[in-house]
Amino acid sequence: MAQASLDRIPTVVEAGWGALARLGEIAGRVGPDSYMIAADMNVPRDIVEAVLRQLPNARGPYYGRGEESKSLEWVLGLLDEMISAGLTRSSLLLAVGGGAILDAAGFAASIYMRGVRLGYVPTTSLSMFDAAVGGKTAINYLGRKNVLGTFYHPHFVVADASILARLPRERLVEGIAELVKHAVISGWSGLDMVEGVLPGVLDLEPEPLVEAVKWSLEFKLSIVSKDFRDEKGIRAVLNLGHTAGHAIEACSGFKVSHGRAVSVGLVWELEASSIIVGTPRDLKTLVSRLLGEAGLPISLEDLGLTPGEVIPCIASDKKRRGRTMLFPIVEDAGRVEVRVFDIAELSQLLIKASGGL
Ligand SMILES: NC(=O)c1ccc[n+]([C@@H]2O[C@H](COP(=O)([O-])OP(=O)(O)OC[C@H]3O[C@@H](n4cnc5c(N)ncnc54)[C@H](O)[C@@H]3O)[C@@H](O)[C@H]2O)c1
Repeated sequence: MAQASLDRIPTVVEAGWGALARLGEIAGRVGPDSYMIAADMNVPRDIVEAVLRQLPNARGPYYGRGEESKSLEWVLGLLDEMISAGLTRSSLLLAVGGGAILDAAGFAASIYMRGVRLGYVPTTSLSMFDAAVGGKTAINYLGRKNVLGTFYHPHFVVADASILARLPRERLVEGIAELVKHAVISGWSGLDMVEGVLPGVLDLEPEPLVEAVKWSLEFKLSIVSKDFRDEKGIRAVLNLGHTAGHAIEACSGFKVSHGRAVSVGLVWELEASSIIVGTPRDLKTLVSRLLGEAGLPISLEDLGLTPGEVIPCIASDKKRRGRTMLFPIVEDAGRVEVRVFDIAELSQLLIKASGGL
């Protein structure tokens, strides 16, 4: 069990095979006076029932479905339910689902009475490897992704890796690019670990799945706990792969999923780093191999896109500050430095790097 104090909220991360069996005890330690559950309707029924057995007096579930739940309408509906259920500031909202339900329910929890207690049960690989920790909540509005949001850390995350073993392959691999990204930031020993567990993860074996989830969430927690509001430039290293990745998502009208976009973004940005600081070639080769083994795309061609279509979308990134943007440069595995780039200069760099994809 990992623990960190984030923004005055002590976040507990419990990851394991069958970790859901400990949900009642972990939630009980937060000491809420009542519970409300928000869940994704595509989470298998028996998993939602297992949650309800752990929290027998909980209200809900209030259901949403993936990205559709990241809307003001869904959040207002959830807030209505919380008000009619009489939730107080000491109540706890538990979100059960992928990154979308976690982002949207987290947002609702952060604004209800200026913040109620919050717990996450992630049910997709992206949420188990990444989104469940970090405290960024968000919804989409007026066609803009993640444009409304808050920083609000959950009191606990219960990541039951056995849930991943039931996902279809294309959903299972969605979070692998974030896992590989964490490994690049952490260093060569993290990459060795991910290389070692990846075949077992893809074969849905319990031990590698648990190790990957635990390692990834704890690694992210270690970065976020030094910069929980993304103010010091420390957690900006986690944006590795995401400048190019977000541009790919945006220019495809969000038809390319986050995980697939970040996969190409990671390779692309490593190529950009190598132009600037001569990043070792074997790092990009290893990263491309790991992502390729998972069946993820590693080039724009794999997505049927061209640099000319993608580059203009960089300007719409919300990481942009006026004419500049922070961009992580990878000197080597474990050595990532965040630098300030002018948008035009960054666009040129990525155009140049696209030649090496
Ligand atoms: N807050 C953060 O730090 C952070 C980080 C990365 C991504 N995100 C956000 O996360 C979202 C993407 O997350 P995601 O990939 O988990 O997508 P998602 O939450 O949209 O889930 C993907 C699909 O899987 C379904 N689903 C969920 N659990 C399931 C299960 N156990 N079995 C079968 N189907 C299931 C959902 O209904 C949906 O259709 C995006 O909105 C992204 O912006 C947030």
